[in-house]
Amino acid sequence: MAQRIPKEFIDSLLEKANITDIINSYIKLEKKGNDYWARCPFHNEKTSSFSVSENKQFFHCFGCGAHGNAIGFVMEHANKTYPEAIETIANSMGMDIPRDKESNKKYEARKIIHNSLSDACKNFEEQLKNSKLAISYLKKRNILGTTAKLFNIGYAENNFQNLKNILINSYSESDLLNAGLIAKKDGNSYDKFRDRIMFPIHDASGNIIAFGGRILHDNVEKPLPKYMNSPETILFSKKRVLYNLHLAKKSKEAKDILYIVEGYMDVIALYQAGIKNVVATLGTAVTQENLLQCFKYTKEIICCFDGDKAGEKAAWQGVENIMAVINDGNIISFVFLSENNDPDDIIEKGGINLWEKNINKKISIEEFIFKKFSKEVDLKTAAGKTQFIKKADSLLNKLNAKILKEILKSSLREKIGVKNISFNVTNETILSKPKKIKSNPMRSAILILINYPDININMDAINLEFIKNYPGINLLKEIIEIINNNKNISMGRIIEFFEGTDNYDHLKKISANKLPDLNLGLNNVPEEFINNVSDEFNGYINIILKNTLKDKRKMLMNDYNNLENPDSTILKEITKIDKLLKK
Ligand code: UTP
Ligand code: MN
Repeated sequence: MAQRIPKEFIDSLLEKANITDIINSYIKLEKKGNDYWARCPFHNEKTSSFSVSENKQFFHCFGCGAHGNAIGFVMEHANKTYPEAIETIANSMGMDIPRDKESNKKYEARKIIHNSLSDACKNFEEQLKNSKLAISYLKKRNILGTTAKLFNIGYAENNFQNLKNILINSYSESDLLNAGLIAKKDGNSYDKFRDRIMFPIHDASGNIIAFGGRILHDNVEKPLPKYMNSPETILFSKKRVLYNLHLAKKSKEAKDILYIVEGYMDVIALYQAGIKNVVATLGTAVTQENLLQCFKYTKEIICCFDGDKAGEKAAWQGVENIMAVINDGNIISFVFLSENNDPDDIIEKGGINLWEKNINKKISIEEFIFKKFSKEVDLKTAAGKTQFIKKADSLLNKLNAKILKEILKSSLREKIGVKNISFNVTNETILSKPKKIKSNPMRSAILILINYPDININMDAINLEFIKNYPGINLLKEIIEIINNNKNISMGRIIEFFEGTDNYDHLKKISANKLPDLNLGLNNVPEEFINNVSDEFNGYINIILKNTLKDKRKMLMNDYNNLENPDSTILKEITKIDKLLKK
């Protein structure tokens, strides 16, 4: 069972985390004035209306109204649940989420597997140095020594017990089984990889989590699978991992484009030729996880498929897989390499020039869908066109990206000569509605307070008996208490205190409202500014007091006029209120 993450941990995380660093690892922020700006990742726009405030530890888009703190951003942008987002942020800061005994054990188990894999890798690299055959194979494939070193390429000897005999000094048999380094049959364990070139597979942070091994030569008598991966382990899931992401994401070019290719050797050949922003799937079609991971680092993904039937099939499976995770603003294109070539062949035959020629022939997702469906129906007939639209719509309905969905639907219809009849694009369908709430004096006061927690508050007014039932006053008091108990607290942190309560969404909505125009002070003197903001805040509290008093006066007047024997105590009350109102 998943454990609830302690509130204290979440608060200390938000206190230590810097929202600009976190958001900057997903999208590029530019500093202008006090704040950071970018084109909003949550809606399609040409100019930057997405702002991040370091002071407030809060982001806000003036275009679509998206807003929130660091946790909210990671949830929305990386499609994560609340605990997952917290884990992501904690990981990025090297903070350990307090764990119960059970998860502590898991953590230890992972560490042991990590260590054994990294020891195995060292051993494979050592063995490569001693194997003339393996070295000459790599030479034949044009891999330079420096490249082999960079990718930690190794060799596993043709021996059933070599690795096991070495590692068993430091690890138990079951550790090595769990790491996928040995296998067991009829009670005997033996090395899983033998007589193979070894490619370590890293996670995005650069830890070794598995291996891929390639045979050196085809054996006609005893055909073996050309490539073999580690089995699925607690560290490794084949469809989640992308080969070389840890290096690719560091390249300058990766911020704009990431290429996804099909094989280790393709990645290595491209990297050696200077194309460093390249990753590979591990013998599977592109998955949702693959894309989500890539879009953390890049704006455009180019999926490159070997120029064969299998390549096209893999591409199609990829498109179906990924529909649900494409966001507006994501760019995905496809390249079908020419004549049964893979990237490795292309680099070998024509170097970067030939590669670029191929890449220039990339097609968009919409061209790809068109290409696929137009082959399956007869577009010369009305029935064929209808079939086409049905197929396209049922695929596109899986898209969550609203703008992209409408654009694709419309342009695919246009392509086959059908007018847009079934839908139209309105602002409402395009923009996710700003999650705002009507403003009133209490909401404005709260909004000012969470934006500027260090204002001077007239507590006497807030504690007055006759407004103790005013809607929102308890929330306001709770916020004040949180501020008093937490020095230098930011808006992002304040809101998170309410997670799990009814006020959470309410506060988030209030935080989306536009701040009232505040008098910034003449000379940019901080004290002057805070005084002005405080006046503004206390002004709203005064309005609340006044309104309450006026309502009360009206009620009393009503009572007074309707009573048969008007009571003089009512009159006294009214005079008291009038005095207060004058003040
Ligand atoms: P291929 O078998 O098509 O590769 O598998 P290839 O280009 O012919 O291989 P080379 O160039 O002769 O070495 C495509 C890629 O899929 C991955 C490997 O990276 C392989 O290069 N793969 C395939 C795996 O990771 N695991 C598998 O079980 C199979
Ligand atoms: Mn190849």
